[in-house]
Amino acid sequence: MSMSSAQHIHSEFSDGILTLRINRPDKKNALNLAMYQALADGLTEADSDTEVRVILICGCDDCFTSGNDLADFLTTPPTGANSPVMQFLIAVSETRKPIVAAVNGLAVGVGVTMLLHCELVYAGSSATFQMPFVNLGLCPEAGSTLLLPRIMGHQRAAELLLLGEVFSSDKACAVGIVTAVCPDGDVLPTARNSALQLAAQPAAAVRLAKSLLKRDYAAELRETITEEGAQFMARLKSPEAAEALQAFMERRKPDFTKFD
Ligand code: COA
Repeated sequence: MSMSSAQHIHSEFSDGILTLRINRPDKKNALNLAMYQALADGLTEADSDTEVRVILICGCDDCFTSGNDLADFLTTPPTGANSPVMQFLIAVSETRKPIVAAVNGLAVGVGVTMLLHCELVYAGSSATFQMPFVNLGLCPEAGSTLLLPRIMGHQRAAELLLLGEVFSSDKACAVGIVTAVCPDGDVLPTARNSALQLAAQPAAAVRLAKSLLKRDYAAELRETITEEGAQFMARLKSPEAAEALQAFMERRKPDFTKFD
């Protein structure tokens, strides 16, 4: 596996581990089109490269990712199954290799929903989580409407998705999104140690166990990601989303009272 570096996604390979680091700190690691494409390409290459035994996804010390770049939603919204975000969601949900995530600071939107596709997720004690899709007039994505109720039950999933409030890493761990909470400075070393441990396991057995763990919902997951994606793209054109995105740009609270 060669070492490469897209502008805001740094990719590094060592000891059987491909590390994909999200690095756009001035925009709180918001994911733009090029970043989704780099992540999708990195995951796809990793899947077919026999040297890669584990994928490790991390961000900066104070930010995992603030989710989709909201300016992109206005200027270059996703329009179909081939858009970089959809390529990323299919890649992260279908890669055969195990994925470890290290979450420090903010995890917003797809920064949370991508974790549902990881095998091991370590979060800092001061990390925060939020899925504000509905707050933005949009709908949940990345298969989260299938996976969240499956891991935590309808009511807890509905609370996180319909109220869209910020929640702590302890809560993320209690509801099953996070494997373990660590002191902030220990997150990356802990994730890296687990990735090394996974890389030393028999690779074919790891891949088989991962695919069996997902076997009973794999087809439904692909169908859900596709349906959510189509609804999400339609919602981007809704007056509610227009108001929410405009409000973010103008740094004011959105006013949804005029829409029924
Ligand atoms: N898309 C585009 N730009 C973003 C962004 C996003 N998702 N999140 C943060 N930024 C930008 C801000 O516009 C700001 O840019 P500027 O300095 O050029 O004005 C910069 O990153 C710093 O963000 P700021 O809002 O000042 O930091 P904060 O610590 O006060 O708040 C967040 C951080 C993440 C809570 C806040 O920026 C936020 O709510 N972002 C939107 C998150 C979101 O809704 N994501 C999509 C989910 S589907």
